This record gives sequence, structure tokens and C-alpha cells, in this order.
Amino acid sequence: MTEPPGPPWALLAELTQACPLRCGYCSNPVELTRRSAELTTDQWSDVFRQAGDLGVVHTHLSGGEPLLRRDLPELVAAADGAGLYTQLVTSGLGLGEGRLAALTGAGLRSVQLSVQHADPSTAEHVAGARSFTAKERAARLVREAGLPLGLNAVLHRANLDDLDGLVRLALDWGADRIELANTQYHGWAARNRAALLPTPAQVERARTRVAFWRARLGDALELVWVAPDLVDATAKPCMGGWGAVSLTVAPDGTVLPCPAAGTLPDLDPPRVQDCRLSWIWRESSAFRAFRGEDWMPEPCRGCALRTVDHGGCRCQAHALTGDAARTDPACRHAPERPLVDALVDGAARTPHPPAYAYREGGP
Ligand code: FES
Repeated sequence: MTEPPGPPWALLAELTQACPLRCGYCSNPVELTRRSAELTTDQWSDVFRQAGDLGVVHTHLSGGEPLLRRDLPELVAAADGAGLYTQLVTSGLGLGEGRLAALTGAGLRSVQLSVQHADPSTAEHVAGARSFTAKERAARLVREAGLPLGLNAVLHRANLDDLDGLVRLALDWGADRIELANTQYHGWAARNRAALLPTPAQVERARTRVAFWRARLGDALELVWVAPDLVDATAKPCMGGWGAVSLTVAPDGTVLPCPAAGTLPDLDPPRVQDCRLSWIWRESSAFRAFRGEDWMPEPCRGCALRTVDHGGCRCQAHALTGDAARTDPACRHAPERPLVDALVDGAARTPHPPAYAYREGGP
């Protein structure tokens, strides 16, 4: 029997799934939550209070685009009042001077801004929307407000070869950190896997450039590399382990062990409207489903890396094999690894990947 863990460290608060961008790599579900189904200001405020009582220290206010919530300053104030460190995860569209002042006044502590490419027209092609100038301005305003600024770049076939450009952009925009996160093929992104999947040669070149920039920049810019598990043939320690360090509250109040877990057919996730967050974290079947090691099949069960990768990604195992309890096929030892080898080989042999399927409209 797996012991309940200590308190979660982080809460991912998905305030809305509406977004002005149309990125093909979006990992939000194919069917987005309607605006009318989103939690109210009072409901979110209660979620933050419960999270603070549970021991959560950090909340990512995310989406979609959280700036589309008119009550965002009230939500920031509620999270701050509950003792949570608040980080806004944003596209930057809609982050004007007045809005930022209201958010900082409410207790906002830091901002993470998405970027698609260092070249404006390529960036807007990836995002499917005019956005580069707004992002540049948002970055400037965040720095002028004295808040820590992180950039998040989802990496894929169209931008891995310009990793230097992304690092220079982070330096130009005054960022403290850039997260270079290879695409995770969940939700809408799974539809675009053939368009997004990089070649192994691209990944190797990019990895070399990360090492170069880390050696050159030292502490001047934190570079975080989120590895491409499919190409590396190495399972990732997804979410730091199932139900181990963080929880996600979706816009409609569904509570999930990871943002993509809504796709798992038998999970039966609880909702904040029905249950206390503390019970959900400690007792719910959804959070206990893959906690610890009891659920692991072979070869995970006998593998020395099980304490490092925690068995890999459950959502990916389900997406690729139809069974969330299988070994993650990203792993070189997984029985279904040949499925992934075929995808990676296909990308390496394709000189011109297909065009993106963009997201159309908001929910
Ligand atoms: Fe759900 Fe990895 S995304 S476990």
C-alpha cells in the first residue's frame, strides 16, 4: 500500500482555456472547456485558500490565456492572501501597463512569457496569430515593473535549429530564465506530431548549443532544457511522479494529477465543487492511481531507474498504447518502443513535414 505523500508543492490553476494564439503544439485538450463552465471568482478564491491550507507554496496562474479572465487581479489577491507565490503564465497579449500595475498591486510575484521563435514572422507562423510585438512589449513592462521574467519556448522541428536566437532573445528582453521545453504530444499537439517531431540530428545540435550557452553565461541566464523523451528513448519523470509534487485544477473545477490526465478514460477525476482539495490529494482514487510503484508493470518494476523516472508519462502511455498502466513507450526498454522508433524514423526521413493544424477559435 503506497503511503500518502507530503503536501503538494505547486498548484497549476488553469483559469481558462480560451487563448488568442492558435499554436499547433498546444497541449490543452482537443475539446476546450466553455467559458460559461469556468469556476467563478469565489470558487477560485476558495481553491487558493484550500491550497494554502494544504501546504502548497507556488501557484502558476495559467490557461489558455489567464489575462482573458477580467477578475485576474482578484484571483491574484486571493492566491497571495492564501500565502501562495503567484506566477502568471501568459502569451503576453493583453498585458498592458494598467493591467500589469493592477496585478502587481494585487501581489503578483513573477511572469512567464511564451515565445515561439526569435524571428518575428516565424514566431507568428508558429503561433498562428500576430503576437511578437505584443510579447516584446510585455517583456519590457515586466522588467520595468521589477518582476522576475522567465521565457518559455516550446521546442520542435521549426525552432530547434535556432536555439541561439532564442537564447539571445532572452538576453535582449532581460529574462532571468528561459525554459527550452521540447514538445509534449498531448491534447491538440498530438494531432500535429508529424509536423512537430524533430529529427535526432536537430536535437543533438540543440543540446550542444545549450551546453555552450550554459558554459558561456553561467548565472547570467538560467537555461532549463526539458528533454525530448521520444527522441532520447528515455522516459521523463513526468510531473515529478504521479500525485507526488503538484496538482492541476482545470477551468471547470476538475482536479487532475497532471494537465493532460483528463484524457484517461477510467480516471474519474474529482471536482473542487464536490470534494475538499486535501481529500482529493490524499485519498481520491484519481491521485492514488499511479502513485508510488505498486502499479508498475515489468520492465519498470525491476528497473533501477524507476526511482528516477517514476515510470515515465502515464498520459503518453495511454495515448500510444491505449493503456495508461503500460511502460511509457518513450523508454528504450518498453515493449511498445518500436511504435516510437517508427515515428522518430519517419520524422528523420521527411524533408518537409506537413503544415500545422491550427486551433480554430476559442471555447
Ligand atoms: Fe500526464 Fe505525463 S502528462 S502523466
